[in-house]
Amino acid sequence: MIISLTQYKGGVGKTTSAICLATLLSNDAKTLLIDSDPNRSATLWARKGLLPFDVCSDSEAPKRLMSGQYKHTVIDTPARPAADDVKAIAQGADILILPTTPDPLSLSALVQIATELPKGTNYRCLVTLSPPAPQTDGADAIAALQRHGLPVFDRPIRRYKAYIKAADAGVVVKQAPGGGVAWRDWEEVWKELGNG
Ligand SMILES: Nc1ncnc2c1ncn2[C@@H]1O[C@H](COP(=O)(O)OP(=O)(O)O)[C@@H](O)[C@H]1O
Ligand SMILES: [Mg+2]
Repeated sequence: MIISLTQYKGGVGKTTSAICLATLLSNDAKTLLIDSDPNRSATLWARKGLLPFDVCSDSEAPKRLMSGQYKHTVIDTPARPAADDVKAIAQGADILILPTTPDPLSLSALVQIATELPKGTNYRCLVTLSPPAPQTDGADAIAALQRHGLPVFDRPIRRYKAYIKAADAGVVVKQAPGGGVAWRDWEEVWKELGNG
């Protein structure tokens, strides 16, 4: 399984989602996260060697993949791709995840990307950084994407400090203080991807 993540806009939870998806896949089989983003956020998160999957750069990827030890690959693609890059990214993935925050700018960047994807691309939008109840921004964003006819995960990824703590400590989200609650959202994502 090859999962890629992309978005025109930065700061939408792309790297965080890549780390969480790789965590989920690593429960199934050996997983490689390819950090293609020059900002190297995923590599930084992995620096302590405490994650249950491997992380490598673009240039190391061919050698790693040739070793044949990985069943799953997650690709954190470069920030601010050109439209042509997005097409190539879509073609190289089994499923493309488009993360977005609930704000209008991020949502319109997403609608833009969706219109540019090659026909038949298997993709799903994921609303991230959803503010706590009683705010309804996450659910509203999901409804707006559904109105546009875009495939979107039923539930948003909620905003929790656990994500920032996990990145800081170099561990998976579940292991950070408060991470147990935050992680439930990813268990739902996993189910929606057709597992469990
Ligand atoms: N669900 C979340 N809750 C709280 N903070 C989050 C969440 N998702 C991401 N963040 C934080 O938001 C910032 C941007 O997320 P990141 O995954 O780096 O986005 P991108 O890769 O799209 O630039 C980071 O500081 C990250 O720790
Ligand atoms: Mg990033």
